[in-house]
This record gives sequence, structure tokens and C-alpha cells, in this order.
Amino acid sequence: MLLKELSSLASPLSDQQVQLLQKATAELSVTQLAWVSGYLAGIGQSAGLQAPQAQTQAAAKLTILYASQTGNAKGVAEELHSAALAKEINAELVNVTDYKAKSLKNETHLLIVASTNGEGEPPDDAIAFHEFLSSKKAPKLDKLHYSVLALGDSSYEFFCQTGKDFDQRLAELGAQRVCERVDCDVDYDEAAADWTEQALSEIKQTLASAPSASVVSLPVAGGASSQYNKKNPYTASLSVSQKITGRDSAKDVRHVEIDLGESGLQYQVGDALGVWFENDRELASQIINRLGLSEDQLVQVEEQALSLLDALVEKFELTQTSPAFVEAWANWSGSKKLAAIVASKEKLREYAANHQVIDVLLEKKAKVAAQEFVNALRKLTPRLYSIASAQAEVEEEVHLTVGVVRYQQGDEYRLGGASGFLGARAEEGAAVKVFVEHNDNFRLPNNPDTPVIMVGPGTGIAPFRAFMQQRDASNAQGKNWLFFGDQTYTQDFLYQTEWQGYLKSGLLSKLDVAFSRDQAEKIYVQDRLKENAAEVYQWLEEGAHLYICGDANRMAKDVHQALIEIIVEQGKQSPDQAEEYLKQLRSAKRYQKDVY
Ligand SMILES: Cc1cc2nc3c(=O)[nH]c(=O)nc-3n(C[C@H](O)[C@H](O)[C@H](O)COP(=O)(O)OP(=O)(O)OC[C@H]3O[C@@H](n4cnc5c(N)ncnc54)[C@H](O)[C@@H]3O)c2cc1C
Ligand SMILES: Cc1cc2nc3c(=O)[nH]c(=O)nc-3n(C[C@H](O)[C@H](O)[C@H](O)COP(=O)(O)O)c2cc1C
Repeated sequence: MLLKELSSLASPLSDQQVQLLQKATAELSVTQLAWVSGYLAGIGQSAGLQAPQAQTQAAAKLTILYASQTGNAKGVAEELHSAALAKEINAELVNVTDYKAKSLKNETHLLIVASTNGEGEPPDDAIAFHEFLSSKKAPKLDKLHYSVLALGDSSYEFFCQTGKDFDQRLAELGAQRVCERVDCDVDYDEAAADWTEQALSEIKQTLASAPSASVVSLPVAGGASSQYNKKNPYTASLSVSQKITGRDSAKDVRHVEIDLGESGLQYQVGDALGVWFENDRELASQIINRLGLSEDQLVQVEEQALSLLDALVEKFELTQTSPAFVEAWANWSGSKKLAAIVASKEKLREYAANHQVIDVLLEKKAKVAAQEFVNALRKLTPRLYSIASAQAEVEEEVHLTVGVVRYQQGDEYRLGGASGFLGARAEEGAAVKVFVEHNDNFRLPNNPDTPVIMVGPGTGIAPFRAFMQQRDASNAQGKNWLFFGDQTYTQDFLYQTEWQGYLKSGLLSKLDVAFSRDQAEKIYVQDRLKENAAEVYQWLEEGAHLYICGDANRMAKDVHQALIEIIVEQGKQSPDQAEEYLKQLRSAKRYQKDVY
């Protein structure tokens, strides 16, 4: 029975109790209602009550686990959960970090949505679960029905590795797949929706035949949530896009301010902003020209018929390409050069990562129908930017630090899709579609007295500007130590005057900078950490939280290695013990990374 239909006649509750219950639940989302229903059942059980239809056995249920670093897998899992409830499947949605791995042996129905991070590694939240599942401690799971949806990016060597690991290990432990794992690339919407449909219909069938199957009668999803998200972004306005690197800098870094107006959007320091963007119309025209097609020609994009030009500007990736697209173009064009690249997986991945769609087209001409061409492209996906402001300071604004991707290819300059939009094409006042991507894996310590060490070279500085604004606004007393680095002091010292102001006011206790090109030898943030080894170790021993933000490929690894060396030297530990030390810090959420 739906709550809105509930009356005192049809329930053991008084009129007043019915009203209170309706009021308390009126604004809850489907997910929240599901949680509350579990909570009430728990209270009932501890009071010695049994649900009427489940008097002898616990209800069979579906557990949905998600492992997500930047929110995509979480979003898919939430939709999966709503779809399960809509099918009246008794389903519980759990972040893997909150899941007791030992409960696995009691599960009968499990769906996992997992992304891959690092180089084929699980997201931070899933490290412990991944380790448990791979270990000898993992139980036999021969009563378990499951399936895995893996999210990843085929330009990485270890595509969807975490999902593959979970799938393989569950099978090894005796669990039975209700349907095959699906590995999704960056434009995962369609594949995820198909898998959701298939997995849930299989689960519904096996659940129905389970001895204690039960259904939930919750209101069906569909009450539009007022929250803005990736699929329903808020149209904000760009107020500032100001270059903050010097005229002679090799880089173009922008301080971007976006007005969130009346949206009511809330973010916490450590969160990222998702930004949808439009491709450069000139680039789209150049592509259409090269294809020998007409801009007005209609193509079908899902349910919509759009002109080829609009479709390329609004719906597809032009500045990134994919191994699948390069392969398709190699076939269409008959290019020998591309055929040789396609023959080697490694070369293909590298080529795809370093060439845009137009570069591939320029290799050799081909005749392709407009629809066939767009079908081979990746759907446009938003980019994330670490938020560089605290709402306690800037209220309805959000600030970003955007490095404009601009590089030379042959005689031409290429721009990144989103950074080109924010830093070069969009004018002040332009509409920008945004959403907040919460990131509980990059948070200031709860205790305002806890010291923090922040390592943020280049645009990695962004979240630390937010951290400092937050600590300033809340008058937090903990010590703050910033390591910043870039190419040169005069051209690339991002937000220099702000840091100097914070040093003067005492909010920033220590600032160490590394400018790699200001002297003969290269100096990086990891060198500054090592120079300060004794004090860094002392801060860690005092309970400091350590944060790294910025480049994932080299910087974060080099900083990690520097930390290992510091712990070996200062803590008189072996390299293995030092790794364990950092692992402990990581699981205590005292060592957090926001790297890309
Ligand atoms: C959690 C998170 C936080 C982030 N925070 C920030 C942030 O605070 N600030 C920030 O600037 N970025 C940040 N990023 C990165 C950001 O999301 C984008 O990836 C970045 O701005 C590039 O996107 P783009 O659309 O401009 O370029 P794209 O269109 O995605 O990329 C352009 C293409 O050019 C290629 N390319 C780049 N340079 C060259 C070259 N020299 N030669 C050949 N090919 C090349 C690239 O490989 C890519 O294929 C973050 C990413 C994540 C995941
Ligand atoms: C720093 C970084 C490392 C990544 N490493 C991999 C990888 O090794 N293999 C892969 O398939 N995808 C990789 N990805 C792509 C993500 O898995 C993909 O973007 C996914 O949609 C993210 O989902 P999430 O937001 O739930 O974490 C990586 C992404 C980032 C930002």
C-alpha cells in the first residue's frame, strides 16, 4: 500500500500518527525510503516483531554494491536500485566501503557496479573489499547468484580490470552468474541500461523461486528528484575565465568562476564540478568538410534527429578519439599506416590517446555515410574539475583552476574539448551546464585541530585553495603545510598572493615550492618533501592527514615513492613496512588522492 493512501482505518495507526508518517516521508527519495523501510524493520525486529509475511525466514533480497572513484558507478548503481524497486525487488544499495565483506557468505543475490582506477586498480573505497575477495579468507559462495557491470575506459591498458577481477573471483568461489559481465567504455549509458534490464529480470526470476522471496511495495521511482546531476545538469553562467599564468608561461591556466544562481547547489571542499561543454563549431565544420558531407544532413542521435553539424557540436567527442574509432577509420580508408597501428594493441592505444578525430581523418580520406560516421564516435561526456573554492567563502559561486589543453599537431593547434570551451571559447555570461560530483575520498579531517599536508603542483593546487578557504572560515586551528610546484616562479606560481596572505595571517603554517625550470637541475615537489623528511614524518606521527592532487601518471607516483623513502629513513622501517604504513594511513582516510 502506498503511504499516501494510508488511513487510520486501514492501519493500526491513529489519524495523527498517519499524518506524522506522511509528513516525515513526503520529501524522501526512493533510495531514502528504502533505507528508512530497512531501518524500521530493524527496529521492529529488535522489539521482537516479525514482518507479517516473513515470520519464519529472512526475506531473500538483492544487494547492489558499488565501487566508484568519481561517481559514475555510483550513479549507475543508484539507477539500478531505483529500477529494482520499480520492479518490486527487495533491493539494498550499499557503497562497498560500508559493506562488511564477511556478510558475503549470507548473500543470495548480488549485483556489482565497479569502475577501475589507477592502472587497473580498484577505486579507493573498494581496496579492502578487493583484497578480501582475492584472499584465502574469502568464503565459498555456491548459493550466490550475481552479475557484474564494469566501468572503465578502453584507452587504458587494464580495461575494466576491477570489474573483471570481481567477476572472476566470485565465479572461482562458486557463485553463479545470472548474466554475463558487461565491460563499459566511457559512454556507458546504453550498455549499462541494457545490462540493468537483463540482470534485473534474471534476478527477479531467481528471487521469485527463492524460498523466502519477498517484494517491497514502495512507491515507484519517477518522482523527479530536484537534485541536479550528471543527467540533469544545472545551467549556470560563466562569470570569470581569467588567465593566471604569466605571458611567457608555457601553460595557459585559467581561474574560472561559475555562478550557481538560484540553483541551491551545495558542494563541500574536496568535491569536483562536472562540466558539460560544446565542441568548437569550426572544428565540427572542418570534420564535415573533410568527410565531403553536408552540415545540414540529418542524423539520428537516440530519439532525436539532428543536423550533422549540431550532432558533432553537442553530442559526440571530437577532441578525444578511441581505439574503436581508429580501427573503423582504418577499415573505411584502407590506410596502410593505420592498419599497421591497429595490428598492435599497444600502438593503437597510444595513437588513440594522442590524436583527435580530425587527425585520424587527415591520415587518409574515406567515403562514409553521416550516420555510420557518428555511430563510430564516442558520445560526449562531461569533464570533472576539482573545486577550488569553499561555499563558506564564495556562497553561490564555484571556482575552478583549469589548465587549457593546447598543443601543436603538424601545422595546426589542437585544443581540449572542455578546457578549450572554458578557457578559450566561452565568453563571460555564457551558459555552462554543471553538476556537483561529491567525493568523500578527499575530505578535510573532521577534527579542525588535525594538521594537514597538501601536495598540489600545477592545477593540483585547486582543492587546496578550497581547503584553506574552509579552514579560514571555520577558524580551524590545525596546522597547514602546502607543497606547490610548477615550471617557473615568475610565470606559474598559481594564486601566489593568496598563499602569501595565508602565510602572513598564520593560516598556512608552511609553504614549500619547487619550480622545475628555475635552475639547472630539475626540482619537483617530491624533492621538497624529501628535503623536509624529518618534519614530514613528525607531522605524520602527530596524526597529520596527507593529500595529493594533480597528475596521476608521474607526480602522484613519485610523491608516493618519496613518502616511502621518508618513512624508511625516518621511521627506521623496511620498504615493505613503509608501504604498510601508507596503507594504514590510506584506510584511516589520512592519505587521500585526487589525481587525474
Ligand atoms: C577527478 C578529476 C579532477 C580533475 N580536476 C582538474 C582540475 O582541477 N583542473 C584541470 O585542469 N583538470 C582537471 N581534471 C582533468 C579534466 O577533467 C580534463 O581531463 C582536462 O581538462 C582535459 O579535458 P579536455 O576536454 O580539455 O581535453 P580532451 O578533449 O579530453 O583531451 C584532448 C585530447 O588531446 C590529447 N592530448 C593532450 N595533449 C596532447 C599532446 N601534447 N599531444 C597529443 N595529444 C594530446 C589528450 O590525450 C586527449 O585525447 C580532473 C580530472 C578528474 C578525473
Ligand atoms: C586516474 C584515472 C585512472 C583510470 N584508470 C583506469 C584503468 O586502469 N582502466 C580502465 O578501464 N579505466 C580507468 N579509468 C577510467 C574510469 O574507470 C572511468 O572513467 C569510469 O567511468 C569512472 O567511474 P567512477 O566515476 O565510478 O570511478 C581511470 C580514470 C581515471 C580518472
